[in-house]
Amino acid sequence: MIDRRTFLSLACGLPAALLPGTAATGPRLVRRRLRAVRAGRLVLGREVEAMLYDGRLPGPVLELEEGDRLELRFENALAEPTNLHFHGMRIPPAGRADNVFLEIPPGERFTYAFDIPEGEAGTYWYHPHRHGTIARQMWAGLAGAIVVRGPVDRMPELDGCDERVVMLRDIDVDDAGLARHTPNDWHKGKEGRFLLANGAFEPVWRMRAGTARLRLINASNARYLRLALSDRRPLFLIATDGHFLEKPVDLDELLLTPAQRADILVRFEDGRDIDLLALHYNRGAPTPRLLNRYVLRMRPVPGARPLPLPDRLAEVPRPDLRAVAVRREITMAMFLVNGRNYRHDRTDIVARAGDLECWRVANVGTMDHNFHLHTWYFQVARLNGRPPPFRAWHDTVNLRPGEVAELLVPLVRETGRTVFHCHIAEHGDRGMMGNIEVGRGDRPPSGASVILAPQPEICRPG
Ligand code: C2O
Ligand code: CU
Ligand code: CU
Repeated sequence: MIDRRTFLSLACGLPAALLPGTAATGPRLVRRRLRAVRAGRLVLGREVEAMLYDGRLPGPVLELEEGDRLELRFENALAEPTNLHFHGMRIPPAGRADNVFLEIPPGERFTYAFDIPEGEAGTYWYHPHRHGTIARQMWAGLAGAIVVRGPVDRMPELDGCDERVVMLRDIDVDDAGLARHTPNDWHKGKEGRFLLANGAFEPVWRMRAGTARLRLINASNARYLRLALSDRRPLFLIATDGHFLEKPVDLDELLLTPAQRADILVRFEDGRDIDLLALHYNRGAPTPRLLNRYVLRMRPVPGARPLPLPDRLAEVPRPDLRAVAVRREITMAMFLVNGRNYRHDRTDIVARAGDLECWRVANVGTMDHNFHLHTWYFQVARLNGRPPPFRAWHDTVNLRPGEVAELLVPLVRETGRTVFHCHIAEHGDRGMMGNIEVGRGDRPPSGASVILAPQPEICRPG
């Protein structure tokens, strides 16, 4: 006897599990609702008129497992259009997934739906991405964390940690409430004097285990965070931008630029409090000093002993520079990518799915800019000609004035049209952004005007 399922699988040459509706256990369906609202909220003792997800600062954490299917019923209860971007997630950049070209009018609902891929456990975040209003809406409070868990998170050395999502953002208030953008803020990026951790100023946390795992997210518009621990204890970096390193790397300090994430382990060796500190960083623009004594204080439970450090986290295979199919040069300067301001209807990069590309990104301006690519992520092959100290995946990388990064970008799995930009929110809104369209090899995208054309002489191996 051959049943219908076996017949179909034989007929199509596909394993039965890949046929729709036949798998014994399908993906777990996670249904959530999310509402963007205007709401008053008390910040630093002042009532401010904010824009918030579900009325919270930051928005609720979306907790997911690899392989889940998310159905997110989103309602725009703001007085202006908005949309959602799932920053760092490798999901389709179109349809009901990470489609930043959508616009959800005030009062309307939209259901986002997508599958969380296997192997992508990590720390991500969501925020509005309607070009031109991103900075204002984020500054007003719209941002939330996404945590995707997978097998690596279940190893005892990580599972036993006191794990916290730490959304960091700076803010400022004046007599009128939330400080508004000044013309100068639109140039340098909006910053405030108070750094909040999960919406709180200088919180003190009681830690339940001898090791803390902090999923740090810099959700600031423009604030660069040079993070360190009190007494200059080492922190152990285990993941960058949602992807595990091969093994923990101990650091004295960590630069987290807007939109970047870092998962770190903090070990309570001697039972004493440990503060997370934000040190001053000069990004080439006048920056108001933070008034925080510390970002947050961690108070370990008496007698807690740190867990052993994991010695192996994940494979981070190094793409081979000799396998690069296409090389491009991208320059960044104030509000310009390769000398041009953003246009919705222009395609700046036309690429082919499956290709490994190398992008030589140069900051030709006078302040730091951080380069972010949607949908696909990359490794830094060389920064200013030198390989980085350890291999890591990134979706956002910082460039100081004059710096040049060579990025290896495998354009795998997804196809479609999306954007890359400077993640200083005001710079992106002001046009430091471009469109990329990745098509199947036999069908190059139509109507494309390629600005960032291939340049075979850059990114050479050796
Ligand atoms: Cu946080 Cu275009 O992204
Ligand atoms: Cu993004
Ligand atoms: Cu910039």
